[in-house]
Amino acid sequence: MIDTLDIKITQTATSRIDEVDFSNLSFGKTFSDHMFVADYEDGEWKNFQIVPYGDMSFSPAMSVLHYGQAFFEGLKAYKHADGSVALFRPYKNADRFNRSAVRLCSPELPRDIFVQSIAALVDLDKAWIPKSAGDSLYIRPFMFSTDPYLGVSPSKTYKFIVLTCPVGSYFSKPLNVKIETKYSRSSEGGFGFAKAAGNYAGSLLPAQEALKEGYDQLIWTDGKDHAYIEELGAANVIFVIDGVLVTPSTRDTILEGITRDTILTLARNWDMPVEERRVSVKEVIETLKEGKMTEAFGVGTAATITPIASISLNGEKYNLPEQGPADFSKKALKTLNEIRYGHTADKFDWNYTV
Ligand code: COI
Repeated sequence: MIDTLDIKITQTATSRIDEVDFSNLSFGKTFSDHMFVADYEDGEWKNFQIVPYGDMSFSPAMSVLHYGQAFFEGLKAYKHADGSVALFRPYKNADRFNRSAVRLCSPELPRDIFVQSIAALVDLDKAWIPKSAGDSLYIRPFMFSTDPYLGVSPSKTYKFIVLTCPVGSYFSKPLNVKIETKYSRSSEGGFGFAKAAGNYAGSLLPAQEALKEGYDQLIWTDGKDHAYIEELGAANVIFVIDGVLVTPSTRDTILEGITRDTILTLARNWDMPVEERRVSVKEVIETLKEGKMTEAFGVGTAATITPIASISLNGEKYNLPEQGPADFSKKALKTLNEIRYGHTADKFDWNYTV
């Protein structure tokens, strides 16, 4: 536990906020006025600063550019009905960030430094938090190795940076997805559970091929036999089968999604049966054919809850029922929004007021 983080703040002389069209926000293109930056040197985190958002200069020999020691988090800040500002479950992100750090042989960041740096940045740029329903301030903390050294070994120096972006929805419509049977995102003993930059680099070509084939996204399957479902694009995936919420159990190859955990917690609180287990491709196709699968959706910080319209396997398309008002995913999104925007009591203690 640290008391209060000693941050040197240099404010921008000219805010860019008036250039932003808050009624038409896309994901990840607009950055707020400031960013948080810290350095890891001589075995400790130091130089905590908030500076104007802008370009930085680095050595071309910087190790992350060659060997990819980089990982990130994604979380959101919301403006509440009473005018206060809250981060949603930031300590969960802090803990996952450190699990990524350990796997990528990088220094852990004390969880209070993670949360306080974000809180200070969000507080300074709170005018950038959009107010419309569905909009929020997306927060991107990330760490990367900075040694100018081409030997393959863990770097001794790192940077931790936090950027924030006002965002609208990541997906604008229910998704037509295919089950991927050629490529895989991760493997046993690998680092699929970490938010490693490399996991996302490896997903680009398969996603591009899926787009060319006319799909919006792909469902990842296990790297061994492509027999079990893992994730949906950059989100976790949840199915409703025979009234039971079913989702792949987390393991080496699957990210421990915080939205995933939030949705499962809501469901259990409503006494809905929840099963976290291996979900085979065969089960998905059979329950779709038999009409037992009534809903499928992606869950993630960026994606929030995004319904799936159809699932295809080897070119064969199976449609999910049209979305209805009584759908679990609709009810879950409504409740989640009521908590995140401060319209209802935060009985799970998920909001962290800045
Ligand atoms: C998030 O939901 O924060 C993610 O990590 C997805 C992102 C890669 C767009």
